[in-house]
Amino acid sequence: MTSKPKPKTSLLPLLLALVLSTLTFTNTAQASKEADTDVNLCPPLDPTGHAASQEYVFSDLNWTLTHASSGNDFDVARVAFSVQSDFDGVGSVRCDAEGREFSEEYLRQLAGETPVYGWFGCEGGGEGEGEVDVKTEFRLVWWNTHLLEVRQTWVCPATGLSMRATGHLTITNFTCTFSTSTSARTSCLSSPPNSNLPFSATIVSILSPPPCTAATPDWTVTNLTTVNRTTTFGLDPGSANISFHLLNHALDGYSPRLVCEEKMLHGPLNGVYTTPYKCAVFEANEGDVPVTRFDWIVGGDGDVLRVNQTWFCDGGGQGTRFQSIGDLDVKPLLDCSSFSHEYEAFGGTYVETFETCDAKADFEIKGQLQ
Ligand SMILES: *[C@@H]1O[C@H](CO)[C@@H](O)[C@H](O)[C@H]1NC(C)=O
Ligand SMILES: *[C@@H]1O[C@H](CO)[C@@H](O)[C@H](O)[C@H]1NC(C)=O
Ligand SMILES: *[C@@H]1O[C@H](CO)[C@@H](O)[C@H](O)[C@H]1NC(C)=O
Ligand SMILES: *[C@@H]1O[C@H](CO)[C@@H](O)[C@H](O)[C@H]1NC(C)=O
Ligand SMILES: *[C@@H]1O[C@H](CO)[C@@H](O)[C@H](O)[C@H]1NC(C)=O
Ligand SMILES: *[C@@H]1O[C@H](CO)[C@@H](O)[C@H](O)[C@H]1NC(C)=O
Repeated sequence: MTSKPKPKTSLLPLLLALVLSTLTFTNTAQASKEADTDVNLCPPLDPTGHAASQEYVFSDLNWTLTHASSGNDFDVARVAFSVQSDFDGVGSVRCDAEGREFSEEYLRQLAGETPVYGWFGCEGGGEGEGEVDVKTEFRLVWWNTHLLEVRQTWVCPATGLSMRATGHLTITNFTCTFSTSTSARTSCLSSPPNSNLPFSATIVSILSPPPCTAATPDWTVTNLTTVNRTTTFGLDPGSANISFHLLNHALDGYSPRLVCEEKMLHGPLNGVYTTPYKCAVFEANEGDVPVTRFDWIVGGDGDVLRVNQTWFCDGGGQGTRFQSIGDLDVKPLLDCSSFSHEYEAFGGTYVETFETCDAKADFEIKGQLQ
């Protein structure tokens, strides 16, 4: 385990020398350190269960994955690096893994199969201030992207909430050396050497699975807004977007995290916005929150919003699965206004119009359990 002194810590002797009343200062320093710990490992959460993101520093990369077809080359596949977060007391963590798993992922990918890309544990920095056990793990997509994900999980002692910080970076700059005898890759290091790459992690409280009994299939939709931009310039197809919040009473904890939004509606194809679109959750690639899709079908007899939501009541994928589908013509519920202005393009004058429609009030969509 490498442990980089934190700036705060390394300033301490200097400050101590400057401060006359050493005793008073030490007490103050300890008090503020405890306060920091509360902020870091038990950060304030917004209504969607998110905390301000956390800065990480990535360094000391050293990996290899030999691609030669001879013998045991794949056995030496390994990766090592250090990662340091700002969490008090967690410090620098050394992550390394070696052996078959990487090779097998690589081989699977070579064979055109979907690799699993497992999580590997990191060493050191396990205990945060106040003995909070912080687990650090990583996974690396070897294939093409070299996308590295790092996550830390812990339980906030004050609230008992399970917390997770997830960050990722793409390892773009590295220099590899090769064995002169076998031409196998021996190691790849960050370039320039000793680079420290900053990246940030998203912090959320991890939700427990929704209760199995509350299979309410209906939704409340709030804050629905659509914007439709059209122009008189024939070459500009215009654009449209939509956003709303979706509340399912079977998913009380999850609902505030579901923001359904499409910044650029695809289409329209024959006047119909073909879909589906997804209700995004912040922590993509984690199995906490089920996939929710929606369709927005404009034109014809109305503006139909169709929701298709799947959720699991006892844990990602293996639990009891519920699916509810429902739709509603929301056209009568919308309050629309438009704003137009002239603009110049390619020597002509054209008109650009933004039509904004808001739902006059929250509304319900009846769902049907599938
Ligand atoms: C990278 O790892 C290999 C294998 O552990 C080691 O031989 C080499 O010295 C390492 N390079 C650096 C710069 O740490
Ligand atoms: C990669 O290397 C180039 C050239 O040395 C440098 O300009 C760039 O900032 C580096 N990128 C990262 C992410 O370190
Ligand atoms: C969303 O709608 C609710 C009423 O349903 C309103 O109180 C709230 O201010 C709206 N939020 C936003 C961000 O517009
Ligand atoms: C946007 O306006 C155009 C022209 O009136 C219309 O054809 C289209 O269906 C509208 N799209 C949306 C999403 O309302
Ligand atoms: C929709 O478009 C308007 C105007 O371009 C923009 O102000 C708004 O942020 C967009 N909304 C979404 C959800 O992308
Ligand atoms: C509902 O969504 C699921 C995926 O979440 C999809 O497999 C299914 O085809 C959709 N059903 C309908 C009727 O759109």
